[in-house]
This record gives sequence, structure tokens and C-alpha cells, in this order.
Amino acid sequence: MVPIKSKNEKLKNHQCPCGSSRTFGQCCFNNSNKRLAFILFSGAYNIFNKQAKEAASSENSMWNVQKKHIAQFLSKSLKESGKHSNLKVAILGAGNCEDIPLNLIVQSFNKIDLIDIDIEAILAVKNRLPKEQQRKVRCIWRDLTGLYSDLVSEVLYYLENNRVNNAYEVLEKFYESPRVKKPLHSRYDLVISINTVSQLFYPSLLNCVQALQSLGKLPAQSIPLSNLLSIAQDISNEIIPVQHLNLLHSIVKTNGKVFHSTDRLEWGDSGYNIKSPVTDMVDSLEDLFNPDIQSLCKQKGYTITGSNTEAYYTELFSLDNHAQWLWHFSKDRVYLVEGFMLSPKQI
Ligand SMILES: C[S@@+](CC[C@H](N)C(=O)[O-])C[C@H]1O[C@@H](n2cnc3c(N)ncnc32)[C@H](O)[C@@H]1O
Repeated sequence: MVPIKSKNEKLKNHQCPCGSSRTFGQCCFNNSNKRLAFILFSGAYNIFNKQAKEAASSENSMWNVQKKHIAQFLSKSLKESGKHSNLKVAILGAGNCEDIPLNLIVQSFNKIDLIDIDIEAILAVKNRLPKEQQRKVRCIWRDLTGLYSDLVSEVLYYLENNRVNNAYEVLEKFYESPRVKKPLHSRYDLVISINTVSQLFYPSLLNCVQALQSLGKLPAQSIPLSNLLSIAQDISNEIIPVQHLNLLHSIVKTNGKVFHSTDRLEWGDSGYNIKSPVTDMVDSLEDLFNPDIQSLCKQKGYTITGSNTEAYYTELFSLDNHAQWLWHFSKDRVYLVEGFMLSPKQI
């Protein structure tokens, strides 16, 4: 494991993940709360991504199936939308690019920005490409929520000092009137965001809470802590997906396209040996495609963060193509995934 200190040193030269055009060393590094927020969250995702990479490395990995579905959908939509060479593409939450048909993208586009809070993962993806293709690729270390440098660093400061009620108040104030800094400013011909929106906020906050608990800085369980996690989940479910779609709209060119996919329903073990409630509603996995079951799940609130896409995108985008497929994520867990190819509306 790289010692935190030398890891910080390495990160100092990258452009700051808060989206200022300065380096991390000249910007958020100098504020210990902000630095902690970025390092913790980058580190948490680095661990998730390393585990995902390991799971993806076997030949019959479930990630290959997901990648195949995505490649089919993307190439069909790209064919329909005509010429696209010489153009610029952004891949948001690119991670290990395990579910992204990078070959197809590198062949079809001239400039590719890989964007993620886990800079190590995207640098490794770039380094794996042949030298002449590497020239086309830029790695951007960025927080796509625009929340870590202010909101999250404040929340972490309170949590570190066991002031859970103060942390709750910060989240509550944000939930009531969310204000978000725009994390990206370039414009792209194609913007890709694949199963990223559900990962943007809650999983990493939960991870930090668990880390602080294991360090003895937070109690194992308490009512204020459950309230905090519950409002963080509301932010993830209600605010993050809207903000993410706004981001997609703001960085796609007027004649560009957005490819957005989200996990909509989950079947099986949803972690910590807790069965997803959807499991009892279906006799066979094919039932997950049934519109009646889908709307019942929605009524009962069983959908996954970000799966509300169809409720939000119509204001900002028109739909070119849509597909649904099953992703056998692991032996015990299956997702119904939904892909959307969207054109921005002029608003
Ligand atoms: C489900 S993974 C996407 C999988 C990825 N496409 C792959 O093939 O490995 C979600 C990605 O979002 C990234 N992520 C999570 N929170 C983020 C944030 N606030 N800003 C930028 N990236 C974030 C994670 O590091 C992770 O790589």
C-alpha cells in the first residue's frame, strides 16, 4: 500500500478535483478538510475499483456481458447518428473502463477525456493503451458532484469530531436548498455516463462513516447517525440524479449526444446478506422487464438511485434510443440496467 504521505505528494501535481484550473497542490491541498475529503473519497473508490478490476479479470466475468450490451447499444446509436470521427468524447466515472467499449471509442473519436475521482484507475486505463492511442486520451481527476470541496469536507469535519448533529444540519440545509458548483466546463460531441450516477455520493459517504467507526471516532450505531445516513440517501436519490443530468446537458454540444445508463432494479442479495425487496416480487428474472412490475417497484420506492432518469430527462433531452438488459453483477445479484441515447433540447 502506498503511504498516504507519498500518495498526497503524487496527487499534488494533478489538476485539482474541485474543478478550479489550479493544481491540487496549489488549491484544496492547502485546506486540511478539503484535502481529507478528496483523499478519503478517491481512496475509497480506488479500493472499490481495485476490487471490481479483480472481479472483472476472469474470462467469463459478468463485466464482459455488461460491456457487450453497452457496446451493442452504443454502436447502433452511433451508426444511426452518422459521422463521428474527429470528435471529442467525455467518459464520466470511467473508473477501470471495464464496462466501456474503449476500443470502439478510441477508434471512433479523436479526443477522449476520462473523468473520475479515482485518478489512479483512469491513469492505469490510459497506460494500457498503445502509445499512439494514448495521445488521444486525457485523464481528468474530478469530483462530478461538485460537493466534496465544500459540503462533504464540512460534513467530514463534524463527523471526525463526533458532532453528528452538526453534520446532519449541513446535509439538511443542502437538501432543502441545494446549490452545486459546476465541476466541468468543456463541451463534448458525446458524453458517456455509464452506471455512475448511483455511485456518486451515498456509497462513499457510507464508506467514510464506516471508516470513522472502525477508528473509534464515531459510535457503531445511534439515532443521529441513522438520520444522517437517511438524509444522505435522500440527497443521493433525489438531488444527485437531477444535478447529474443538468451536468450532462451543460457539457454536451448542441448537436451532440449523451449516452446515459443507470441500474434500475436490483434482484438478490443487496449486500450485508440483505435481500433486495424486488426479489420477492418476481418469479423469474425476465419479470424484471415487465412494465407493471417496474411501476409497482417505483410506487414502493424499490428503484435504485439514478433510475429516475426518465422522470427528469424529458425537460432537458429528447430520446433517440432506449434499451434494457439484465446485468448478472455477481452470483447472487442481478441488475436491470437501462440505457438512454439522448439529444439535448435547447433551453
Ligand atoms: C460503477 S463505477 C463505473 C464503472 C466504470 N465505468 C468501470 O468500467 O470500471 C462508478 C465510478 O464512479 C466514480 N465516482 C464515484 N464518485 C465520483 C465522484 N464524485 N466524481 C467522479 N467520479 C466518481 C468511481 O470512482 C467509479 O470509477
